Amino acid sequence: MFEDYLTWKPFFDVVPMQETDCPAASDLHGQRFSRQWSAEEVSSLLQQSGVFGFSALQTNAFFSRPLGGFVLSREAAGEAEILTIAVSEKLARSGLGWRLMQAALREALERGAESMFLEVDEMNAPAVGLYRRLGFQQVARRKAYYAAADGTKTAALVMRRDLR
Ligand SMILES: CC(C)(COP(=O)(O)OP(=O)(O)OC[C@H]1O[C@@H](n2cnc3c(N)ncnc32)[C@H](O)[C@@H]1OP(=O)(O)O)[C@@H](O)C(=O)NCCC(=O)NCCS
Repeated sequence: MFEDYLTWKPFFDVVPMQETDCPAASDLHGQRFSRQWSAEEVSSLLQQSGVFGFSALQTNAFFSRPLGGFVLSREAAGEAEILTIAVSEKLARSGLGWRLMQAALREALERGAESMFLEVDEMNAPAVGLYRRLGFQQVARRKAYYAAADGTKTAALVMRRDLR
């Protein structure tokens, strides 16, 4: 029994994002980004035409289905974009970001997109690493695009990947 406890690890399902996931997504967004999106902002984005999302929900928690990560994406006129993606810091490097991105890429393709775009701070090593590993390539660089609280400015990379 004690050994079970030591080896216990959370398992997650990646499923289409629901309205009920929005408050937890807002909390997680606030933990991972300097400007938190409110639950209302997340919800109104999710309801916009062409927008879709996926949630990673824990399947082996005792009383609920905690949110380990989520991704929001939009498809329009054959092009898709990642609006945001966040994974809980305590689950870093356990494959959830990869699974969420795979779900978004698949859904974008099914909706008729031919390519996926995203924008990322070039200093964000985990995100840049994830996107490169998924086959995204840099197509533009926007100098001094992001500003940190201390005034430091960093560049944004615009990245793209073919879906077909
Ligand atoms: C970016 C983010 C979603 C990655 O999620 P994650 O679940 O930790 O990533 P995964 O475990 O699925 O990693 C998949 C691959 O991404 C790359 N990667 C992930 N973390 C990395 C790190 N710290 N450094 C370098 N590469 C990394 C690796 O190639 C990794 O594959 P590997 O572990 O087999 O080497 C997560 O760090 C996050 O939520 N960050 C804060 C929010 C954010 O910056 N979002 C992106 C905004 S553009």
